[in-house]
Order: sequence, then C-alpha cells, then structure tokens
Amino acid sequence: MKIVSIIGARPQIIKGAAISRAIRNHFSDQIQEVIVHTGQHYDENMSAVFFGELNIPEPNYNLGVGSASHAVQTARMLEGVEDILLKEEPNAVLVYGDTNSTLAAGIVTSKMNIPLIHIEAGLRSYNKSMPEEVNRIVCDHVSSLLFSPTVQGINNLKKEGFRSENEAPYHIDNPRIYHCGDVMYDNSLYFADLVSERPFPVDIEPSSDFILATVHRNANTDDSERLINIFETLVELSEFNELPIVLPLHPRTAKMMDQFFDEELKQKISASKLLIINPVSFLDMIQLEKSASLIITDSGGVQKEAFFFQKPALILRPETEWVEIVENGNAVLCDASREKILKGFEKLYKAENLTFPPFYGDGKAAEFICSEILKQLG
Ligand code: UD1
Ligand code: UDP
Repeated sequence: MKIVSIIGARPQIIKGAAISRAIRNHFSDQIQEVIVHTGQHYDENMSAVFFGELNIPEPNYNLGVGSASHAVQTARMLEGVEDILLKEEPNAVLVYGDTNSTLAAGIVTSKMNIPLIHIEAGLRSYNKSMPEEVNRIVCDHVSSLLFSPTVQGINNLKKEGFRSENEAPYHIDNPRIYHCGDVMYDNSLYFADLVSERPFPVDIEPSSDFILATVHRNANTDDSERLINIFETLVELSEFNELPIVLPLHPRTAKMMDQFFDEELKQKISASKLLIINPVSFLDMIQLEKSASLIITDSGGVQKEAFFFQKPALILRPETEWVEIVENGNAVLCDASREKILKGFEKLYKAENLTFPPFYGDGKAAEFICSEILKQLG
C-alpha cells in the first residue's frame, strides 16, 4: 500500500516521526510511505533539525512554499500537492493537525477522490477566528478515516454529524471515526528515555527551579497589546519570584516583538530573568519540559507535553482544544491577562495532589493507526 504523508510545520514533522517509526518497525513490508514536506517551515531550527534527531526519512519532495499570506501559501501548496499526487497515485494520503499544509492537502486529496486520513481529528476550539479551527473543520469533513486523540474529539465529531455506527467500506461519504490516543504521547514516551545523556540546552542547573514558556499563536503575536502584556507579565513573574523563565522563541514572535516593543521594553527583557533562546530541537525541548517546574504556553503540543511530563501549565489562550487537562485541574486558561497569569501561577506552582489520568492513550497510537489504515484501505 502506498501512502503519501504530508507535513510542513514543526509540530507535524514531530507527529510524522511517530508514524514513520511505526511503519519502519512494524509495517515496512506492507506500507510504502512517500513523505511530502510543503516547506511551510524552513529555518534549520524549525524543520531540518528534527529529521536526523527523530530518525524521520528525508522527504521525497519539498515544495518549498515558505511564508506568505494564508491564500498565497495555501494556493502554492494546492498546486504542488496536486502534481505529486498525480505522479505518485497513492492509495491514501495522510495529514496531521490543523495547519495550512493540512488544509491544502485535504482539499487536493478529496478533489482527486483519494481517501484522506486525518490524524488529530475532532479537535475544536469553537473559535473560528482561529485559522487552525477552519483548517480542522474542513479537513475532517473531507476525510475517510478520522483518528481522534481524545474522547472529547470523538464527541465533537458526533456533534457535527459523524456517526460511530458506520460500517466498512469507509469513504468520504461514509467515514470511520476512531478514538486512538495521541501520537505526540507516543513520541514523548519514546524519546524521553533518550535525553538524559544530553547536555542541558541552557546555562542553568537542570535541577534548579525554572519556568519554561513558549508563545507563537497568531492571536497573541499579531496583537501588540496582548504581546506586550504577555512579555511584561513574564518579566514581572520571573523578577518577583526570582525564577528564571526559559523561552525558546518562535520566529513569528521574534518578528512581531521587534515590530511592537519599544527600546525600554527590550532593555527590560534583556536585563531580566526571562531567558530568550532560539527554537530548540525536540530532544532539547523534552529535556526542558522534564526539568521545568511549570510551563506557560499558547502551543497545543507544549500544553499536552506539560501534562505528559506531569507539569502544571498556564495556557495563554481563552480556550483550548485539550479541555481535559483544564477540567482535571492540570492547567489554567489565562488568555493574555496579567491577573489570570499571576493567579494561575499562585494556584499551580508547586501544586500538590495533581493527577494525570491516561487521557492520551498508551503510547501506541501510531501502530494502531497504521494497522487500521491497512485494514480499511489497504
Ligand atoms: C503555523 C500553523 C500553526 C502552528 C504553527 C507551529 C497555520 C495557519 N499555522 O503557524 O497552527 O501552531 O505553525 O509552529 O498553518 N517563519 C520563519 N521561519 C520558519 C517559519 C516561519 O521565520 O521556518 C516566520 C515567518 O515570518 C512567517 C511566520 O513565522 O511569516 C509565520 O509562519 P507560518 O508558517 O505562516 O505560521 P505559524 O505562525 O508558524
Ligand atoms: N518544540 C520544539 N522546540 C521548540 C518549541 C517547540 O521542538 O523550541 C516542539 C514541542 O515540544 C512540541 C511541538 O514543537 O512537540 C509544538 O509545536 P508548536 O508549539 O510550534 O505548534 P502547536 O503544537 O501549537 O501547533
């Protein structure tokens, strides 16, 4: 069976590692994977670094679309993906998550009557001003096999008319929905054991108390008031508690900080305990997550990894797709509000009695996904 996997943004490259590993270890005589990188992310530390480190095969194609407006970026991908699918004639196409790469691949694949498989199906923020929400909804509704990491995801799909009673053969008008666990959890379990020998990625004692933070969501980066508020609060939090905050900076955020922050704020940040570093590799990120006392983030992946490594999280968004970690008290929604961030810190820093139920499966989601793909579409 030939599958084309389409990746493009950092988290998709990481998710793709779990599927490529499962194919290599368990299905290499039955599944041939052709990897297409759209080139949505292209900096060495947003893309290339992950391939060697996570043992992902080099992409068979790289469309090199780069950065542009949503329409231009997606249009370039549509053209490029169509050419490849015409040439490769795969049995199915596999997409991950909710980026513009997911959207473009979903549209082309369904128009060519090729079965689409969506990993990370069913997640919803119920906020359509978020570009990812539109991408997810479109992609789910043109998929034949939908793999949801959570129970909440399955419930969301049912609300939109998806039925768990459908019977094989599955296709775009008769899709199959699965609750299968999270391939990100597979990765965190698999790679966590490999990081302990590595040098610590920042110049602080791994055993000392520190916070890890990431910010990249467009609602935060593209609104000067929110971005300034978040960074001023991070500085305040670290200074007041004498607690370093390590922040690997997404290039989008770097660009907008440069545009929105005046010299005074830039000076204040560089004189503070807010330690801004370049984006780190996945293994370095895992090391930071494992050692941090608390994680502050607007990233989907990072808020879950906080949970995987049993760390509390403050989420810099008004809502989340990963509602279970908020409902279970592991994370607090803080939006971009100073008061909520400071209050969330009070509540969760050094919190005891947090529980970490197995919301995200058993670390074998990728194997299950591959075996179902073979069974239903092979
Ligand atoms: C994209 C996804 C988002 C995901 C994030 C993961 C969409 C709509 N958004 O957001 O869901 O959470 O990836 O990180 O698909 N840039 C660089 N170098 C790079 C990549 C980007 O400098 O290698 C800069 C460019 O200025 C670019 C900006 O970052 O304009 C935004 O990049 P883009 O891929 O459009 O969106 P992300 O914000 O990264
Ligand atoms: N990540 C990384 N290096 C970094 C920041 C994040 O390897 O400097 C990883 C992180 O561990 C997670 C994934 O990137 O696995 C999350 O991607 P991102 O935050 O860019 O996007 P999102 O998950 O919000 O779509």
